[in-house]
Parts: sequence; structure tokens; C-alpha cells
Amino acid sequence: MDSRPIGFFDSGLGGLPYLARVKERLPEESFAYLADSAHFPYGEKSADEVRSRVLAGIGLLCAVADPKLVVVACNTASVVALDELRRKFRIPFVGVVPAVKPAAERSERRRIGLLATSRTVDDRYLEGLIESFAADCEVVRLAAGDLVRFVEYDYLPGAEEAAEAALRPLVRELKESRVDAVVLGCTHFTHLEGAIGKAMGASVAIIDSRDGVARQVGRLLDPGPAGSKERDSLYLTGDAVERYRRFAALYGLDYRGRAA
Ligand code: DGL
Repeated sequence: MDSRPIGFFDSGLGGLPYLARVKERLPEESFAYLADSAHFPYGEKSADEVRSRVLAGIGLLCAVADPKLVVVACNTASVVALDELRRKFRIPFVGVVPAVKPAAERSERRRIGLLATSRTVDDRYLEGLIESFAADCEVVRLAAGDLVRFVEYDYLPGAEEAAEAALRPLVRELKESRVDAVVLGCTHFTHLEGAIGKAMGASVAIIDSRDGVARQVGRLLDPGPAGSKERDSLYLTGDAVERYRRFAALYGLDYRGRAA
């Protein structure tokens, strides 16, 4: 019986829909979320900078919440830093990487769109995923930094018109590319899953990694009861207090303020 929480880490708000999916599957567990919002956006930093921010951020999460496992709920952080995290920390990690394999399984036209940060789009790790799982597909990779910023700073659930406007240029490109599957390769975009699906139309599959991550967390936890359920908590490193209070409430987390 291990009542320590499952930790979640992202540069910002992107990991919250991942936490929600894991919580649906494992409601008896406790959760602690850290947004390294002082160093957002990761997607426009060098790989070395991202790596050092992620190591420091996970160190903070361990200090404030003592998690038994951490979900690195950020594609950019996972592709750049997962190996090093596994070397440096003793707890298990579950990474989030672009769902290229499920998209290749779904695409009939063999044409896949992939929305991610510049860092992820340029990373060799992504190249490897495409070679391994989608070698016979055309994968249209779009670096979508403006959309990442929109979600972090401006998006509010229910404000569909603003989301549609922010998506418009990317949707145009994806439609022109005639893709029939779109991978949400940045966790921030899972907040916009509904709006992206609506804009692309019912014949295009919108795919992310939430189900695979939730299954993997379940596999890695020790079998048996989770222990006493604590209040789920959210920490941040930046100053966007009101915005994070609001999202904490939306996701049923206690807002705990700055971790450092
Ligand atoms: N949420 C992060 C991801 O999945 C990226 C956001 C950022 O650029 O910091 O890649």
C-alpha cells in the first residue's frame, strides 16, 4: 500500500487533460501536478535548456509532493529528457510522446498531420517514431508555437470562437495536405481536441496519447489498494496565479501556489 501521489509535470497547463484521464482510470489514487510556468514555453528553447529545466522541475515536484511515479505530461520534455530523468531519479517515469503509431494504424490515405512544438518537430526522437511506425505515410509536421501560447495564456473552456480563430491557419494547412489523421503532439492541444475535431470534420481522426499513458501508469503501479486518498494538488513556478487557480478548480485540484 503506497499512498504517495502520482506526479504530473508539464511546462504549463498541457498536462491537465492527461491527469484527468489517468484519474478517471485510477480514481482511488492521489495526484500532484507541477506546472513549470516560469519557464514556459519549452518548445522554443534549446534541447540543453529544456533538459536542465525539466531536471530542476522534477526535483521540485519530488521535494513538494514525494510522488511514487511521475508522468512527464509534455512531449517536448519527454523527447528531450526522459532518458536522463530515468538515470537521475529512482522513481518510475511515464513519458508522453506523439501518438504516431496509433495514427498510422488509423490513416487510410497514409497521410498524417502532426501538431507539436518546434523543439519536438525538429527532434530526432520524432524522426525515429516516424521511421519505426509510419514509414509508408506522409507525415506533415507543423510547429505550432502560437497555438501553444494561445492555450497557455488565453484559452478558456467554452470560449469556442477564440479557439476556432487561433486554429484557423493550421486547419487550413492540414486540410490542404489532405490528411485523414491528426496527432496532437503537444499536450496543450488536448484542451482543443473538440475544436480541432470540429474544424477538421468527422472524416479526420484526432489522436493523442492519453489512453496509452493511462494504461501504462496502471501497469507500473504496484497492485493492491492505493492507500488513503489525499486531496489532489497543483503547484506552479510562475506568477499566473489567477489563471492557475481557475484551472485547478476546473480539474478538481487544490491550488497550492508556488513550489519555489
Ligand atoms: N506541453 C508541451 C508539450 O507537450 C509544450 C509546451 C511548451 O512549449 O512549453 O510539448
